[in-house]
Amino acid sequence: MITGGARGQGRAHALALAAEGADIVAADAPGPMAGLTYPLGTEDDLHETAKLVEELGRRCLPISVDVRDPGQVDAAVQQTVTDLGSLDIVVANAGIVSTGPLHEVSDEMWRQLVDTNLTGVFHTLRAAIPVMRRQQFGRVVVTSSMGGRMGIPDLAAYNATKWGIIGLAKSVALEVAKEGITVNVVCPTTTQTPMVQPTGGEDVPDDLVRRMMKANPIPRPWLQPEDVSRGVVYLVSDPGVITGSVLEIGLGGSARIH
Ligand SMILES: NC(=O)c1ccc[n+]([C@@H]2O[C@H](COP(=O)([O-])OP(=O)(O)OC[C@H]3O[C@@H](n4cnc5c(N)ncnc54)[C@H](O)[C@@H]3O)[C@@H](O)[C@H]2O)c1
Repeated sequence: MITGGARGQGRAHALALAAEGADIVAADAPGPMAGLTYPLGTEDDLHETAKLVEELGRRCLPISVDVRDPGQVDAAVQQTVTDLGSLDIVVANAGIVSTGPLHEVSDEMWRQLVDTNLTGVFHTLRAAIPVMRRQQFGRVVVTSSMGGRMGIPDLAAYNATKWGIIGLAKSVALEVAKEGITVNVVCPTTTQTPMVQPTGGEDVPDDLVRRMMKANPIPRPWLQPEDVSRGVVYLVSDPGVITGSVLEIGLGGSARIH
């Protein structure tokens, strides 16, 4: 089950996991949010993910879920177990971004960021872990960001949520370590998805993104979603010896920190 599976990294993870033999639940198409500078994933995007997964010979359930709503997340987990028989892998990937100096962050935008990026991951893990406990097996990957490893001006609210889910993931990893369940984190640097490039072109859209790209030692403009998927596949195919870890997919940016 991949939240934010309609497009971008979530869709790439769906295809990479399907290619490895997984049936997929793609959860996305949230309710409206105010003040975002880019559109969110839609039902059409979800169905396109499902079509692409099915072309790889696997099943895909597209489910409309807003991770801010615990009832919708619980129902999606339930539907997964009913329709597919188990819930082996969860990628808690749904997220939004908003940029700007802290004094310009509205109460509403702060709430939307926290409700999606932090509370949404809480809802997803809280719903999935009991199922995995019953199975005595599970692989959970949480999508943070290189913004969850450092401070970045104009990303304070976003980064607060991305640091938060690392604490959540590491703590849950300890709670379930004896039960065949691993919980790990991926931290991508800037990745070419509709979140940072809504028009789908090659031009780098804003100053902040340009600044972040320049800071990366490996001289590539940005990651492709598939670069992150390789990390996700690695973590979920691990036999159960890697948990509570953070995989930085950072074009070398992590060499300068810690
Ligand atoms: N693109 C980047 O540069 C970058 C870098 C580091 C981390 N990330 C993180 O990677 C994850 C995936 O983002 P992406 O780059 O694929 O961007 P994206 O915007 O293409 O995909 C995110 C998906 O999450 C969905 N989503 C947002 N809020 C939701 C909600 N409340 N309920 C359900 N679904 C919701 C969106 O509809 C969208 O389809 C996010 O958590 C993001 O913060 C992105």
